[in-house]
Amino acid sequence: MDEPKIAACQPKQVELEEGKKYAYCTCGLSESQPFCDGKHSGTQFKPDVFTAEKTESAWFCQCKRTGNAPRCDGTHKNLSCE
Ligand code: FES
Repeated sequence: MDEPKIAACQPKQVELEEGKKYAYCTCGLSESQPFCDGKHSGTQFKPDVFTAEKTESAWFCQCKRTGNAPRCDGTHKNLSCE
């Protein structure tokens, strides 16, 4: 895989809990978007593991082309997919 798969062309709203650990999918293969389900195995991609700094609602990128991972930065609007 040279590039991550476009899991979806729009972001997904997620509820984050302060102090909790999350693994954001960067390969696009996970079926539990936007989080990792282990399907990156065998690719060069690794999940982006982070701890939420605060409890909040956030929009996470599913096209995997954002410049501000794991958050959507609007890049999906430039992709040619529906
Ligand atoms: S869903 Fe990827 S930039 Fe918005």
